[in-house]
Amino acid sequence: MTNIQNPDFEIIIESPGRINLIGEHVDYSGGHVLPAAIDKKITLRFKNNNTNSCFIVSKNFKKQFEINLDNLLRSDTEWHNYILGVIFHINVLKPNSVKGFDCEIESNLPLGSGISSSAALECGVAKGLNELFDIGLTDIEMITLSKDAEHTFVGTKCGIMDQFAVVKGKKDHLLLLNCETLDHELIKADFGDYKITLLNTNVSHNLASSEYNVRRDECNTALEAIQKKYPEYTLLAQVRPKVIREFEKILPKKIYNRALYVTKENRRTLKAVKALKENDLARFGELLYKSHRGLTNLFEVSCKELDFLVDFTQDLDYVIGSRMMGGGFGGCTINLVHKDYFDSFIEDAKAAYQEKFDLDLTPIKVAISDGTRKV
Ligand code: GLA
Repeated sequence: MTNIQNPDFEIIIESPGRINLIGEHVDYSGGHVLPAAIDKKITLRFKNNNTNSCFIVSKNFKKQFEINLDNLLRSDTEWHNYILGVIFHINVLKPNSVKGFDCEIESNLPLGSGISSSAALECGVAKGLNELFDIGLTDIEMITLSKDAEHTFVGTKCGIMDQFAVVKGKKDHLLLLNCETLDHELIKADFGDYKITLLNTNVSHNLASSEYNVRRDECNTALEAIQKKYPEYTLLAQVRPKVIREFEKILPKKIYNRALYVTKENRRTLKAVKALKENDLARFGELLYKSHRGLTNLFEVSCKELDFLVDFTQDLDYVIGSRMMGGGFGGCTINLVHKDYFDSFIEDAKAAYQEKFDLDLTPIKVAISDGTRKV
């Protein structure tokens, strides 16, 4: 760790992970999502080093690397690319604004668990450099360039949800985000006697990154077919279920299922917000289960470990909702559990999961917190 030239860091940034209550795999089709920033986070410390190089240290990985600002290229090491990509895209927007810096990174966000450690890192780097070099980026610019970094340097063609939630999250609030217009509304996260817990399957199947881009392509294929008859639609989530059903015999079954899922999930998000505003938690929870069934049967991004955990809760009347969360193929389920049964539920789920898969299940208790901030 000798390369850090100046240990007295000037800027400290905390950048959180995110949860998503409902609205999964609809962001890149212009749908509505309901995420929130959480109290688990990445802490980044920055210092100007007055050179033309950047020295990055990951305390978790116990690794460091150097970036030459004259030669910003993709790396073979995945986590480097989140940082390289953000620097590259800041320079696209504001040429030569990033100078040499030292950065130390420390995280309590579990990797590969679907709570978006990647967006937390990207947005944390963007915010830190914005502060350190007084670049003048707006929140929306930081959100967008962080997403672009993931597309071009990491290779995941993600939507905007994660970066938006990470930057714009507010303590005790959910964000209802329209991913087409980026209009958003803060919704009080009031679940009464129910508390949120994530259950981390501790599996991250290889399919996670490759199949993500495949799903995005499949949604585009569906949209292109629909546009031949209805050119007014520019995004898949705009298409009403009734219109999608007209294509049942025209589209290949798989593509039809993807499209049907997207339009239904988009509507479910809006229904869930209505239920929450009316304090109808039973309805809210029911929609979470429906979301999971859609992700399993129509969008096919779940896996046996996630399905097992959701099924495990189905008949427990103190769990009002459960579903897989994030990109899928592993990671966490999100569960709304009555506070009186919270701890016993976690113990029971752990025991059942251990027995079924011979694997540890890790609960992640989350509180809804503010987005990326300077400390
Ligand atoms: C990942 C992506 C997001 C979103 C979710 C699924 O987290 O980064 O853009 O598509 O998957 O909802």
